[in-house]
Amino acid sequence: MSRRAATLIRGDGIGPEITEATLDVLSAFGAAFDWDEQLGGMAGVEHAGSPLPNATLDSIRRTKLCLKGPLTTPVGDGYRSVNVSLRQVFELYANVRPTKTMVPGGRYEGVDLVIIRENTEGLYVGLDHVFRVGDDPKALAQAMSVMTREGCLRVCRYAFEYAKTHGRKKVTIVHKANILKATSGLFLESGRMVAKDYEGVVAADDKIVDNCAMQLVLKPEQFDVLVTTNLFGDILSDLAAGLIGGLGLAPGGNIGVHAAIFEAVHGSAPDIAGRGIANPTALMLAAAMMLDHVGEQDIGERLRRAIETTIVADKTRTRDLGGNASTAEFARAVARRA
Ligand code: NAI
Ligand code: MG
Repeated sequence: MSRRAATLIRGDGIGPEITEATLDVLSAFGAAFDWDEQLGGMAGVEHAGSPLPNATLDSIRRTKLCLKGPLTTPVGDGYRSVNVSLRQVFELYANVRPTKTMVPGGRYEGVDLVIIRENTEGLYVGLDHVFRVGDDPKALAQAMSVMTREGCLRVCRYAFEYAKTHGRKKVTIVHKANILKATSGLFLESGRMVAKDYEGVVAADDKIVDNCAMQLVLKPEQFDVLVTTNLFGDILSDLAAGLIGGLGLAPGGNIGVHAAIFEAVHGSAPDIAGRGIANPTALMLAAAMMLDHVGEQDIGERLRRAIETTIVADKTRTRDLGGNASTAEFARAVARRA
C-alpha cells in the first residue's frame, strides 16, 4: 500500500483504548497511513478549548479521510454533538452501517444487512428549541425536521449504487410517510424514483419504520440493504447491532463528496472506560471499511477475516461477547493472524 495521509481522533471514554488496539492491528497488516492526530469532543474541550477545534477541521479538509474514536456528547444541556457537526460540515450524507452475524450460536444466524442512513438532514439539523411561557423556561419544546429533495435523492442513489456494486439484491426504503406525509413522504417518493433507474438490477420495496423494527427482530434474514432518514437510521442501526451480539461488533462509515470518516456505531461507553475491557472490533471493522474506501480491499478483507478467525475459531473474545480477553489481548490475537 502506498502511504496515505489520514486524520486520527482517538476520542473520549473507551476511545483511546480501542484506537490504540486498532492502530496496532493496522500496522501488523501493513496499512500505511500517515496519521495526523487531532482532538475532538471532551478531549478537545480539555486540551484545545473547543469540542471541535479548527485544527481538526483543517486536518480533515486536507486529508479527506479520518478514523475517529467515539466522542462524548453531554445529554440535555451542553455543546452540540461533534459527530453531527462533522457530518454536516463535510456533507457526509451517507452513513453506511453493515451488520453481519459473526459469532455463531447467538440468537440469530445469517444476518447480513446494511443500513444506509441519511446523515445530514431530518430531525438532526439542530432546529430544536425550548420556549418560555410565564416563569417556566421550558413550557414548550419544538423540533423541526428538514428534508430536501436533493438530500433524499443523493442518499437513495448512494444506497442503490452501493447495492449494485456490492452484489446486493434488494433495497428497502424505510419511512413513516403515513404520518409524516411531507418529510417522510418526500423521502419515500425520492426512493421510489431512484428505484426505477435500477429496475431489473436491484429490487426495491418499502416499509413503515415501526413495522420494520418488528420485522428486523422477527426475521432479520429477509433484509439486505435498508435506506432511511437520520433518526430512524440511528435507532435501527443500534437495533441491528443488537441482533448480532451488540455494539462491540458494529462499524460505520460516514461518506461524503469531500471527505469520509470511519468510526464505530457505539459511543464512548463511560461505564467501562479506562478498564481495558472494551471490544475494539467495531473500530477495527471501521478501519477495514476505510481500507476498502481507499482502494485497499485486499488488506481490508484480510483484516476482516483475521478478526472473524480470532473470535470464531480461536475463541479469543472480550467480555461483551462472553470471553475474558482484554482489549490489548484481543488486538494481539488479531495481529498474530496477519
Ligand atoms: P454507548 O454506545 O457508549 O454504550 C452503550 C452500551 O454499550 C454501554 O453499556 C457500553 O458499555 C456498551 N458498549 C459500547 N461500546 C462497547 C464496546 N466497544 N465494547 C464493549 N461494550 C461496549 O452509548 P451511550 O452510553 O448511550 O453513550 C455514551 C456517550 O457516547 C454519549 O456521550 C453519546 O453521545 C456518545 N456517542 C457517541 C457516538 C459517536 O462518537 N459516534 C455514537 C453514540 C454515542
Ligand atoms: Mg447512534
